[in-house]
Amino acid sequence: MRLVFLGPPGSGKGTQAQLLAAALGLRHVATGDMFRQAIQEKSAVGKKVARLVNNGELVPDALVGEVVRDHLDGLPNDAGFVLDGFPRTATQAEMLQEILDRRGWSLDAAVALKVPEEVIVARLGGRRVCGHCGATYQADQLPDPDNGKCERCGEPLVTREDDRPEAVRRRLELYWSTARGVEEFYAAQGLLREVAAEGTVEEVQKALLAALGRGGNDPH
Ligand code: AP5
Repeated sequence: MRLVFLGPPGSGKGTQAQLLAAALGLRHVATGDMFRQAIQEKSAVGKKVARLVNNGELVPDALVGEVVRDHLDGLPNDAGFVLDGFPRTATQAEMLQEILDRRGWSLDAAVALKVPEEVIVARLGGRRVCGHCGATYQADQLPDPDNGKCERCGEPLVTREDDRPEAVRRRLELYWSTARGVEEFYAAQGLLREVAAEGTVEEVQKALLAALGRGGNDPH
């Protein structure tokens, strides 16, 4: 199965993509994770994108396209994947189409997670991440939100640089200005599936599986 996950910052793309990838044996390809890793490693790409990512600006289409193309070109022909955070503009949707066509691949669906803005702001304001392994937590579920430690690796939890209120505002502004073009691209191909994503993680996962025709207890 090959999927694209669309949705505003904080809609749960990463959370749901990870769960679905684990349930269906797909690769989780997340451009935001790739850029954060590049920034941490201070690679050439990381140096180019650090200021943009930390301030909630979009990375230029040409650079994102190159990073995704390199990654997908390295996958075997029978690979299934969930693309999380790409494409984010109509130009990127066309770039992806070109990569898919060249590999003889097609998408099964483009899933758009729908969440009201007040839910987004609450989720991003409460997000804490492990600076070491990237695990994500919600502050209101931590015993001591200001001094949280990662359950996986014991490292301190921090607030993502682009979850500062001004960066969140910018990310949302950019999302609303580009989302429609991408959704229309997939709606025209009959691939768009809208999923209400303001419920619990489990409720959203169930709705997502149903939208993909994988309802019931067994996602396989
Ligand atoms: P990226 O990392 O993709 O950021 P984003 O799209 O802003 O998405 P988020 O990670 O904030 O949210 P999400 O929808 O994945 O939600 P999550 O599951 O994490 O990109 C970062 C940056 O990289 C961009 O701003 C840009 O600079 C650059 N970039 C990346 N791709 C690009 C591209 N294609 N083009 C140009 N630039 C690009 O959940 C959020 C929080 O909510 C978490 O704390 C989670 O625990 C919680 N949560 C999730 N689901 C629920 C639920 N159902 N109930 C309660 N809490 C929930």
